Amino acid sequence: MKDALLKLLIQVISEQTGLNIREQDRDKFIETVSARIRFLKLSSSEEYYHFFKKDNKSKIEWQEITKCLTTGETYFFRDRGQFSLLKFSILPELIELRKGRRALRIWSAGCSTGEEAYSIAILLNELIPSIKDWDILILGTDINEDALKKARRGYYRDWSFRMVSEDIKKQWFRKAKEGWRLNKDIIEMVKFESVDLINDKFKCSYHFLHNFIPILA
Ligand SMILES: C[S@@+](CC[C@H](N)C(=O)[O-])C[C@H]1O[C@@H](n2cnc3c(N)ncnc32)[C@H](O)[C@@H]1O
Repeated sequence: MKDALLKLLIQVISEQTGLNIREQDRDKFIETVSARIRFLKLSSSEEYYHFFKKDNKSKIEWQEITKCLTTGETYFFRDRGQFSLLKFSILPELIELRKGRRALRIWSAGCSTGEEAYSIAILLNELIPSIKDWDILILGTDINEDALKKARRGYYRDWSFRMVSEDIKKQWFRKAKEGWRLNKDIIEMVKFESVDLINDKFKCSYHFLHNFIPILA
């Protein structure tokens, strides 16, 4: 790939996806773009660059290239610091603030396969004794539709529990085939929607997103 075109592609893809493609990411970037060119049966990188100008097709390609260039790495209670802060400070404060209205909206932006959103639902269950009397919605959004499909299933393999104690696993999940199925009450607290954080301007069906407390990771 010619250097000038590579720079142009990096520029246009960075602007659209919000990804910072560094010098050390270039080889992976070229590999990924080459794989997309082969997949789309295009003849050159120039053609791929111009492909983005065709509006209807390029929207899907933005999602595909973002999927290829990002990692969906996630597991339950992944970021210890973040979850400690949520458990001991942020969520108790929010619960205290909202105890009059008994309503909470939390948004896991970039939720991948849902472990973060469900971890928050589990925490809320631990923190609110009368949770059935509350109106709670946790919204998980991601650009990756395949990840969202997995999230909606609420079924996870052992790898998703690498930081989780057996107690939590036994309390909120039941063994199902080779994995673990999440308790129905927890699944019902979380909804998943496809949102591209850079390009979508939040046109998802939750028009009241301004009421959400975002958790970004
Ligand atoms: C490393 S995962 C983090 C998952 C989870 N938040 C956690 O911390 O465990 C990052 C997620 O962000 C998503 N993502 C990246 N760019 C995005 C964008 N522009 N819009 C929406 N989601 C995006 C990826 O698809 C990926 O699933």
